[in-house]
Amino acid sequence: MDLKSKLEELFEQNQAKIKGLKDLDQLNQTRVELLGKKGPITEVLRGMKDLDASERPKVGAFANKIKDDLQGAIQERKHTLEQAVINQKLAEETIDVTLPGDAVVSGTPHILAQIMDDIEEFFIGQGYQVIDGPEVEEDHYNFEMLNIPKNHPARDMQDTFYIDDQLLMRSQTSPVQARTLEVHDFSKGPLKMISPGRVYRRDTDDATHSHQFHQVEGLVIDRHITMADLKGTLLALAQHVFGADRKIRLRPSFFPFTEPSVEVDVSCFRCNGAGCAICKYSGWIEVLGAGMVHPNVLNAAGVDATVYGGFAFGLGPDRFAMLKYGIDDIRSFYQGDQRFLSQFQQEG
Ligand code: DAH
Repeated sequence: MDLKSKLEELFEQNQAKIKGLKDLDQLNQTRVELLGKKGPITEVLRGMKDLDASERPKVGAFANKIKDDLQGAIQERKHTLEQAVINQKLAEETIDVTLPGDAVVSGTPHILAQIMDDIEEFFIGQGYQVIDGPEVEEDHYNFEMLNIPKNHPARDMQDTFYIDDQLLMRSQTSPVQARTLEVHDFSKGPLKMISPGRVYRRDTDDATHSHQFHQVEGLVIDRHITMADLKGTLLALAQHVFGADRKIRLRPSFFPFTEPSVEVDVSCFRCNGAGCAICKYSGWIEVLGAGMVHPNVLNAAGVDATVYGGFAFGLGPDRFAMLKYGIDDIRSFYQGDQRFLSQFQQEG
């Protein structure tokens, strides 16, 4: 076989082989074997020394062409295989945008925060200020300024955590009344305030007692405030929180800082007064304490009780939430259990 035919045969065989190669490593190996120094083309070129001088350039040129063509075929195959690798990768990494996404679980304000925000909004709408007070409070403001002197039996109503003789964890939000009365300038207008916050009692925790819970204190002082103002305010609040059809009733009670004092009941929102387990078959549910501010409280804060007077009330958001949502254990509010808390997703 002459060299030219040998080269043609080499070309035919290897072109087919190259086209059939399936991976880049094999292709590279074939390139080295075929076109390298020990490869068949080099060997054919070596045989040229036996050729006629006139034949050599032709065969040489032909050999180089075959070499170039094979190199071209390898290059082309390389390109095809590389493209296939890219295509495969792209196919594997395709994102199916129609798959459902992972749900993002967002938190929600605590149910007590929701109730307190709602109560705040109600009173802000009626022109009240929202005023904060300290949780570590002086005996002076928590008791004495509220007409509860030392050794007064009314102190027994609230078992208190004392820090020392003078300091305690406030057992009610009422001290904020006294603090505000002391500084309010009545020449600038009446005082209308609420004070929401935490309070503390030396109670053993159970389903209905917690050593820490919440209160919202309310206070309105001006000239000519009457009990009818108190009743109208609390009726509007009860209807805002428990529904537009609610009624309220006031029962005589006792608080040292109010005279007269009342306990306020709201008509049962479950049975509408007919009697059910929630209202213990009475048709009424006790929701807060209130009264007309005692002159001793006004005088102690330097407010002339012969000129100014008004009402105060104290309500428990924990109790409001328990009633409204049928929660039977106050500890649920403070245990941080997501299964409980996530039931109160805020709308909007
Ligand atoms: N501080 C009272 C308590 O903790 C609640 C209360 C009752 C507050 C009557 C008031 C009020 O301002 O007038 O039991």
